[in-house]
Amino acid sequence: MNSVIDTLTSHRSERSFLDTAISDETLDAIIASAYRAPTSVNSQQVSVIVTRDSARRRQIAGIAGGQPWIAQAPVFITFVLDMHKSEQAIAMNGETQIAHQSIESLVSGCTDIGIALASAMAAARSAGLGVVPIGGIRRSPDEMIALLDLPPLTFPVVGLALGYVDQPAHQKPRLPMETFRHSETYNKDGLPALIARYNQEIQQHWETIGRKDGDSWSESVGGYYKNIYFPNVLPAVIKQGFGTEK
Ligand SMILES: Cc1cc2nc3c(=O)[nH]c(=O)nc-3n(C[C@H](O)[C@H](O)[C@H](O)COP(=O)(O)O)c2cc1C
Repeated sequence: MNSVIDTLTSHRSERSFLDTAISDETLDAIIASAYRAPTSVNSQQVSVIVTRDSARRRQIAGIAGGQPWIAQAPVFITFVLDMHKSEQAIAMNGETQIAHQSIESLVSGCTDIGIALASAMAAARSAGLGVVPIGGIRRSPDEMIALLDLPPLTFPVVGLALGYVDQPAHQKPRLPMETFRHSETYNKDGLPALIARYNQEIQQHWETIGRKDGDSWSESVGGYYKNIYFPNVLPAVIKQGFGTEK
């Protein structure tokens, strides 16, 4: 349809990277794309930390539970929910920020982070790079906070590994569009049948690409959602000064 839509609809997470460097010019354009993203109440509650250093990338790969593509990709960007800047701005007015005590701040901050992440991903892919978002940094937020020297009222929400692709990924099928796009009101009808169809489709996909261990979606999402899969997030969020009960 057009190149922006082609970039977005051809998305796939890449997990095999060359060690070819990303030029400063390309990286600057990617960061500028995230920087110009919209932000709730102009709060600008996102900061990004660029990691190029290979020893640090290896550390992040370990923090994220052993994800080798983080060490392989030449650049890792951490997207930080940042209410430290607004706290300082309000203090300069002789007033006190309290919004960080509210779950709404986490919701709006993570929304802003998601938009910035998506902008960076689209920019990177349009420049010929491959990307994979990394939520695995939340396995051990304290370690990320120490590694990046993050101040109070900040939290490392998600990362992005980016680089030139070695072995391209196959595009993964999604749940049927009917489960995603609703007209006027939420349509609950027929969901089990649509999920069953997708379970078959994704298992077929794994077979086609030669992965014998591929789970159905019911199994793979259950592997996470039958558990509190990142239990260290709540204590770390509270330790960083955020509240969750208002
Ligand atoms: C917020 C977020 C966090 C993610 N975290 C990880 C991660 O830690 N490691 C990883 O390999 N993939 C991660 N992914 C990629 C997903 O596994 C991937 O998007 C999903 O399986 C769908 O595949 P696709 O992106 O190739 O379509 C993450 C994706 C998102 C949006």
